Amino acid sequence: MVKISPSVLTADFLNLDNDIKQLENAGVDMLHLDVMDGIFVPNISFGVPIIKSIRKHTSLPLDVHLMIDRPHRYIEQFAQVSDILGFHFEAGSDNEATLKKIRNLGCKSCITIKPCTKAQDVFNLLDYCDMVLVMSVEPGFGGQKFMPMALEKLTALKNECERRNLKIDLEVDGGINAQTAPLAVNSGANVLVAGNYIFSADDMAQRVREIKSF
Ligand code: DX5
Ligand code: ZN
Repeated sequence: MVKISPSVLTADFLNLDNDIKQLENAGVDMLHLDVMDGIFVPNISFGVPIIKSIRKHTSLPLDVHLMIDRPHRYIEQFAQVSDILGFHFEAGSDNEATLKKIRNLGCKSCITIKPCTKAQDVFNLLDYCDMVLVMSVEPGFGGQKFMPMALEKLTALKNECERRNLKIDLEVDGGINAQTAPLAVNSGANVLVAGNYIFSADDMAQRVREIKSF
């Protein structure tokens, strides 16, 4: 069954409590929280205090996507407010140590790759990952167009996980809608992040049902 992780990046934060209740009722599986530092990506979003507040208002698992430079500096802080904690392969130094640390702190670990990074680059890290996030847009902004090159990476990761009998979630993030969701799922994704597609709708529950059905 496909899991849906709505990204609140384009939500109205003063109305977030209401939106989260609607998403819970719509049967989403987690919430995707995009943390941006203005250095690793050309945008700034939010950090620990906002995630702490969101945590008080929902029991949904929090899927935190760090788009920050040298993420190992902040793992302890974010682990306290995350269920799944992911960071970028391209941003860190000792990625294996960071993934192990995330697990030791009680979170599920996730390595994330930008469009310029090959799936094969993370094969040697899969033993330490509970999830791999394949970006299907350049990280930084919601509402961008899906890049089909993410599909072959998902398939490569799925095949490698099967070959090594690893139970790892494969998440895809960026430009997911009713056209691109089935392509991603057929290529191996089992967790779909969707921001704009859900939050731009009058009926968010209908959009969730739609992309969860693939
Ligand atoms: C982009 C973020 C995404 C973004 C997805 O850097 O990682 O999570 O919010 O938004 P959509 O679904 O609108 O592409
Ligand atoms: Zn994201």
